[in-house]
Formats: sequence, structure tokens, C-alpha cells
Amino acid sequence: MLSVKIQNALNTQVGLEDYASHYYLSMASWCDKEGYFGSAKFLYAHSEEEKGHMMKMFKYVIDAGAHALVQPVPKVPHTFKSLLQLFEIVLKHEKEVTQSISSIVELALKEKDFATFNFLQWFVAEQHEEEKLFNTIIGTIKMAGTDSRGLFFADKEIEKLIANK
Ligand code: FEO
Repeated sequence: MLSVKIQNALNTQVGLEDYASHYYLSMASWCDKEGYFGSAKFLYAHSEEEKGHMMKMFKYVIDAGAHALVQPVPKVPHTFKSLLQLFEIVLKHEKEVTQSISSIVELALKEKDFATFNFLQWFVAEQHEEEKLFNTIIGTIKMAGTDSRGLFFADKEIEKLIANK
């Protein structure tokens, strides 16, 4: 059985994953509108991935005999200044998610909840990969510069990254 503290922390995390899914869906739509079709595809896929993360955590709470709670999702922005700014927001959000996961790992250890500690290792590894991935994307966009030709090719490179996920 999960302690109330662990249960609350996991339910809060459910909300963060859901928020990421909504946020990336909104970003995908903006990319489609702006003609960044590769980035749009990447972000649609990533939005689904985040939904998968949410469900993985949701199911864990249920399987542990606790109550998984659907969280309210804050409003997400619909417009962005540039492709670079958009992916910088993604990286910032992923870093916050990493911190949040780390704090639950710490709590699980403190409470000697080794099942939750073990469950969270998948998320620890996933966050490491995600931060690496978004750093790569930001590097690609920076190299492309601000002219439309460079950004066109950066967008194509971002689309290719879907296959590596
Ligand atoms: Fe599920 Fe990208 O954090």
C-alpha cells in the first residue's frame, strides 16, 4: 500500500505528465500552422508519449491499491516566438519534470518504499534520454540559424528523430 505522501506525489506527477501532453499538442499545432511539418509530427508523437507516461503512473497507483486522480490541466499557450523558443520551453519543462521525479525518488527512499523506488527508475532513465534529445534538437536549430532555408533543413532533421524514440 502506498503512503498518503507517496500517493499525493505520484498523483501530482500524473498531472505534470498530462500537462506536458497538452502543451506539446499545442506546440505541434503551432508548428503545423507555421509550416514546420517535421517538428509538428515529432511533437504529435511526443504528446502521445507523455500521455503514455501519465497512464503508466496512473496504472501504478491503481495497481498499488491506491486512488489515481485525474488532475486539472492548466491552460497552455497557443503561440510561440520561434521554433527555437518553442524547444527551449520543452527543455525547461523536461528539466522541471526531472526534478519532480527526483524528489519522488528521494521520498520513496526516505519512506523505504522500494517498490515505488524501483518503479520510478524507468522515469529516471527516460528523463535522462529526453533531456539529451531536446538538447540535440536545440543545437540543431541553433546551427540552422534564423533563415528559412536553414530552418527548413532543421525541421527535416527533427522529423528523423521520431524514429530514434
Ligand atoms: Fe514524461 Fe517528457 O516527461
